[in-house]
Amino acid sequence: MRALVVRRYGPPEVFESQQVPDPQAKAGEVLIRVKAIGVNFADLLQRMGLYPATPKPPFIPGLEIAGVVEKIVEGGRRGEGEELKPGDAVVALPHFNAYAEWAAVPASVVYRLPPGMPFEDGAAIPVNYLTAHHAMFTMGNLQPGDRILIHGAAGGVAIAAVQLARAKGLVVFGTAGPAKQEYLRKIGVDHPIDYEKSNFVEVVRKFAPNGIEMVMDAVGGKSFARSYKCLGPTGRLVVYGFSAAAGPDGKRSWWRNLVAFAQTPRFHPLKLMGQSVSVIGVNLGQVQSRGALLRGELDELFRMYTAGKIKPAIGKTFPLDQAAAAHQYIHDRKNIGKVILSVK
Ligand SMILES: NC(=O)c1ccc[n+]([C@@H]2O[C@H](COP(=O)([O-])OP(=O)(O)OC[C@H]3O[C@@H](n4cnc5c(N)ncnc54)[C@H](OP(=O)(O)O)[C@@H]3O)[C@@H](O)[C@H]2O)c1
Repeated sequence: MRALVVRRYGPPEVFESQQVPDPQAKAGEVLIRVKAIGVNFADLLQRMGLYPATPKPPFIPGLEIAGVVEKIVEGGRRGEGEELKPGDAVVALPHFNAYAEWAAVPASVVYRLPPGMPFEDGAAIPVNYLTAHHAMFTMGNLQPGDRILIHGAAGGVAIAAVQLARAKGLVVFGTAGPAKQEYLRKIGVDHPIDYEKSNFVEVVRKFAPNGIEMVMDAVGGKSFARSYKCLGPTGRLVVYGFSAAAGPDGKRSWWRNLVAFAQTPRFHPLKLMGQSVSVIGVNLGQVQSRGALLRGELDELFRMYTAGKIKPAIGKTFPLDQAAAAHQYIHDRKNIGKVILSVK
């Protein structure tokens, strides 16, 4: 099969389109003919060798696919996943190996698509919407009228968070670069904030002098400390990423990593208690071990999709062979919404 292989950790040019052996599904796995691949920020970190548990190169990156079930190999652990049959349209969340024509994935992380959902939408929903939904409602217990600040609000997870916030009747603050301000208004961010022009803590405090209920922060480094300052009593800071480590050039930089790490605040439990706030960590990879919980959340999201309450914003679709261009596009911060790789 054809696959996009990372030859060594590094910038997008390290991708190479190669013919590699087809994957062989083992007991408990599903063999999937891949139609669309969701490109996630995590893929960039995998390519750079900055993502936890990334294999040594050469390897095939990527963790989100939509496609068609070719075969199911029985004999895996019981009770994992729904009953699938060949020909089913599905989405799946492998840890790696998504940038290819075929993928063998444990049945526990394969989910049937609702009827009529295009593969591109399928590949754009699970990671972004599950991350947002899990943070905001399962961990965060947000209620109508609550106020949320979403960073990088024109990005994949963030747009999902904005849509879910609006569906729940929340008040939304959103940061983004200057070129994305109009888009934030279009998708219904109540308080768009251009982080180059304004200090987001001041903007939040201006509209909510006593602080807000949630901040979703995947920027990391010093941003965590500033986000924390936006919280009021009952406030929740969701930390779910560390984009600050990536930088604009797509190259690995231990120095940049170190600086971002050094700027990361430590949260003392007594201070959290004193202020009655929480810091919530979300890592979808870990939540996958709570299979029933995640499946229930995805069912809810698919119901919302079918009812027209959410709709993934697909920024741009590249052919699989152009994975390097797709990654560069995200490094250049040109993407608004989800980037997809399509497989013909
Ligand atoms: N914990 C989890 O389970 C989980 C799951 C999914 C994603 N994530 C994390 O969530 C974050 C967003 O992921 P995503 O897939 O939604 O990404 P995305 O669509 O590429 O959006 C990221 C946004 O972040 C901003 N940004 C900040 N620093 C950046 C940098 N160094 N390079 C490029 N963009 C940068 C950009 O907005 P501006 O141009 O407006 O600055 C961009 O639109 C990432 O940190 C990712 O690792 C975590």
